[in-house]
Amino acid sequence: MDIHSGRILILDFGSQYTQLIARRIREAKVYCEIHPFSTKISTIKAFRPAGIILSGGPSSVYGKKAPLVTKDIFNLGVPVLGICYGLQLTARLLGGVVEKSGKHEYGGADLIIGDRADLFKGIRKKKLRVWMSHGDKIKKLPSGFKSIAKSDNSAFSAIRNEKKRIYGVQFHPEVVHSEEGTRIISNFLFNICRVKPLWTMSSFIDSSIAEIREKVGKDRVICGISGGVDSSVTALLVHKAIGKQLTCIFVDNGLLRKGEGLAVAKALRKNFKMNLLCVDASERFLKSLRNVADPERKRKLIGGDFIRVFQAEARSIKDASFLAQGTLYPDVIESVSTKGPSATIKSHHNVGGLLKNMHLKLIEPLRELFKDEVRVLGRELGLAAEMVERHPFPGPGLAIRIIGGVTQQRCHILREADAVVLEEIKKAGLYNEVWQSFAVLLPVKSVGVMGDERTYENTIAVRAVQSLDGMTADWARLPYDVLEVISTRIINEVRGVNRVVYDISSKPPSTIEWE
Ligand code: XMP
Repeated sequence: MDIHSGRILILDFGSQYTQLIARRIREAKVYCEIHPFSTKISTIKAFRPAGIILSGGPSSVYGKKAPLVTKDIFNLGVPVLGICYGLQLTARLLGGVVEKSGKHEYGGADLIIGDRADLFKGIRKKKLRVWMSHGDKIKKLPSGFKSIAKSDNSAFSAIRNEKKRIYGVQFHPEVVHSEEGTRIISNFLFNICRVKPLWTMSSFIDSSIAEIREKVGKDRVICGISGGVDSSVTALLVHKAIGKQLTCIFVDNGLLRKGEGLAVAKALRKNFKMNLLCVDASERFLKSLRNVADPERKRKLIGGDFIRVFQAEARSIKDASFLAQGTLYPDVIESVSTKGPSATIKSHHNVGGLLKNMHLKLIEPLRELFKDEVRVLGRELGLAAEMVERHPFPGPGLAIRIIGGVTQQRCHILREADAVVLEEIKKAGLYNEVWQSFAVLLPVKSVGVMGDERTYENTIAVRAVQSLDGMTADWARLPYDVLEVISTRIINEVRGVNRVVYDISSKPPSTIEWE
């Protein structure tokens, strides 16, 4: 089955909500991709979209640097939906007039529906509360268009050219604050573009397997395993496609959480019978990190060591021609969006050097998926819930949670304290309620009293945050009794700690990790 029959193309004009449009479409089981507004018309044609969505964006259509598209996209014979900036751009390109609005509309607004033929089909209410975010508005419609909804601020909050199947909405149907937003998007997909909801995880698995087999042929593939969800799921998918032609390499850098290395090896080797090379390189990493306190330097050293260890190991796999990597969709679109390459590239994941030195080609089977889709995929592939739901863990591991110099002894203290935090959070049923929870070892000693003895020992900070994507976060309001057990257990059970504090900072202005 061609799961891509009926796919949607989203052209990105830089809105913070563009990814949400893609999410909503995927949730409706329709395949879609986001491409930059500057995509060539020949590429757009080659994509063979069943419909095109023009996203919102921060610009004004009359701005000097306003991102534009060629008018040709309206002549491809496929339906187009412009959202916010996309609507204004449509109006301007097709001969309408857009003007600065005296009154900006930000936040909730009432939309009064005037026509329920297609975009608003099945919506009973006359008035919808929708999310607006714009300064410009349409003054005069292009010919062939009519208004199908209005608001207090504009007579053209939704427009349509019935003959050419071109639509525009001033509000954001993709955000959850817009009433009936999902239905409006579904109406565009199913009534107007006439696509079918065929994009499911099992169809994704089938087509990915076929694609990997075709690409790889009889060659060999290597894949680095970090213990995280993305690399494990990548390995599982490739393994399902080509079995023993895949060899995974797991580099134990000595900076993992308690028991993690063993758990990963067990899951992949025992449960899935994968070829897995485990390399214990902890001594090498610790040696590099000796006396290094600067966080960025720690990251660079760890990244460099990882590449060298991985490369040495990969050389033993003769005739490997591919490297499988767990790049996700947000990484892909961040690097092609109007905003330019992401500033948050993770150095340890940068395998560019490996590809070049070893003449490897890259396969990235997850590059179309969002994080929660990867979790669903992992479950479908049989990965244990414990691994699928694992909190994100930074590549440089415990090294950036040990403030100051990293030694074997400090790793041990942190690992034990961290294990207590995770155990108690799980016991309280809070593990899936928080985005991340962990311990941090501070370079601060303080005085305590244990029994009748004076102590002068280390401080552990406990961090638990709630977040949707790691970009912003708030400290989790953990119940006092959970905090109490965590504190008591760490001080009683972890030698070298006599004080526990709870981090109550949000991001921004703090970050999730301490380094
Ligand atoms: P911050 O500390 O920047 O973290 O608020 C945001 C998210 O990114 C993770 N993080 C990293 N992940 N390599 C990674 O793979 C890194 O160097 C790194 N630093 C932070 C952090 O755990 C959180 O989920």
